[in-house]
Amino acid sequence: MSFATSTSEIDLPEHPPPSSAGSSSSQFDLFLPLRSAGNLDDPYPMYGVIRTVRPVLEVPIEGWNGPGTWLLTRYRDVREVLRDHRYSADRTSAPFVKHNMDRLPDFLRQAAQGRRSMLIQDPPDHTRLRKLVNQAFTRRRIEALRGHIEDLVRDLLDDVERKLEGFDLIHDFAEPLPAIVIAELLGVPPEDHRKFRGWSSRLIRAVGTAQDSDREAASEANTALIDYLARTIAARRAEPKDDLISAMIAAQEERDALTEDELLATANLLLIAGHETTTNLIGNGMLALLREPEQWKRLCDDPTLATSAVEELLRFDGPVQATVRVAKEDIAIDDKVIPEGSLVLVSIGAANHDPEVFDEPDRLDITRDPNPHLGFGFATHFCLGAPLARLEAEIAFRELARRLPNAQLLTEDPTYRENPVLRGIEGLEVGLQ
Ligand code: HEM
Repeated sequence: MSFATSTSEIDLPEHPPPSSAGSSSSQFDLFLPLRSAGNLDDPYPMYGVIRTVRPVLEVPIEGWNGPGTWLLTRYRDVREVLRDHRYSADRTSAPFVKHNMDRLPDFLRQAAQGRRSMLIQDPPDHTRLRKLVNQAFTRRRIEALRGHIEDLVRDLLDDVERKLEGFDLIHDFAEPLPAIVIAELLGVPPEDHRKFRGWSSRLIRAVGTAQDSDREAASEANTALIDYLARTIAARRAEPKDDLISAMIAAQEERDALTEDELLATANLLLIAGHETTTNLIGNGMLALLREPEQWKRLCDDPTLATSAVEELLRFDGPVQATVRVAKEDIAIDDKVIPEGSLVLVSIGAANHDPEVFDEPDRLDITRDPNPHLGFGFATHFCLGAPLARLEAEIAFRELARRLPNAQLLTEDPTYRENPVLRGIEGLEVGLQ
């Protein structure tokens, strides 16, 4: 692959050329510019270079003359794009994506063409869908989970404490906690959490790599997950329970406001968004804390700092590094014009390390205040699950600090998942002596 940009300081590979019609040989990678922008272990230095040298960066696409791809890394631009209705969240409206539809992983193509979740819709459809889910996903329903999450955390940590040799924070704690919580909230049997955790990691892997084998595994996982959810929805329709799926069905029937496909897409989105990201917040967060023993000690000395620590961990090394919008018209930023139809990658990770907004942005400070990070996005599509994610993470870090003050890293260089957007580690060996 050739490496070339208009600046010699930034060494980004070009997108591979768009496929000729009907070809499905290589997978289209929407986030290639991000993957290339930095190494997975630590993308922040490269983000910093790009933000300084070319904050409004056009990423060339070899052999493609239509509107292409842009990468934005400044806090003010990222925030502005997320609130500006001249940008659409519907990735599929970009000519470059349309042209490459046959190279998208199956589940993304389905998400684009039929089973569309709120994540990729604009108002008024977005407003209708989100309002409906909000009715079911109430603060009261979330807050009612507090005691239950505390019990779960206690049980998981009881098991962890018995592992005198140390434990794998991801496998033993960060993965099961959010998976069980979202399963119970939706009304999926919690004992199935390993099953859908496996499906969702295979789906996410397909976004993160260009391997055909991953793509096939993702396709199978997609079919299994959708079948599973469709069966759960049918069961709740026949016999409602006190869970989110039943509440969404009730809303659907009451106002005829949600199509069957939308219901399925929403359940799917909540299930995947509901645990992968929170797992990664706990994983990335614990890694960051244990790499800074003085910060970890501060939290252990005063576990009530968990609330502000969670905000800082979302900023410092958040699980969602970027999102995408499409320019609905020509839009000027500085002296550049982003042409209508361009894909605009907004780097949340880079924005959260912008020194114009955050003092010493590369320093972890669990008492940072103010901390206007964009870890949950901003404006219209601001994370619907933020109250739940915050609650889970706050309880998790508070109890980790309370119960495992001697925790220390046994892995200095954990392996990162091959995904530049949903950032997380495969495992994290932690010692307790
Ligand atoms: C630490 C954990 C989490 C992080 C960092 C996170 C981050 C984000 C971000 C950045 C967005 C905006 C995407 C965009 O603008 O394109 C988003 C949207 C969303 N998130 Fe989360 N999320 C987390 C946890 C959750 C949980 C636990 C749930 C559900 C239970 C959830 C459900 C959603 C949904 C449904 C949307 C789409 C909202 C919309 O389109 O209006 N997220 N999330």
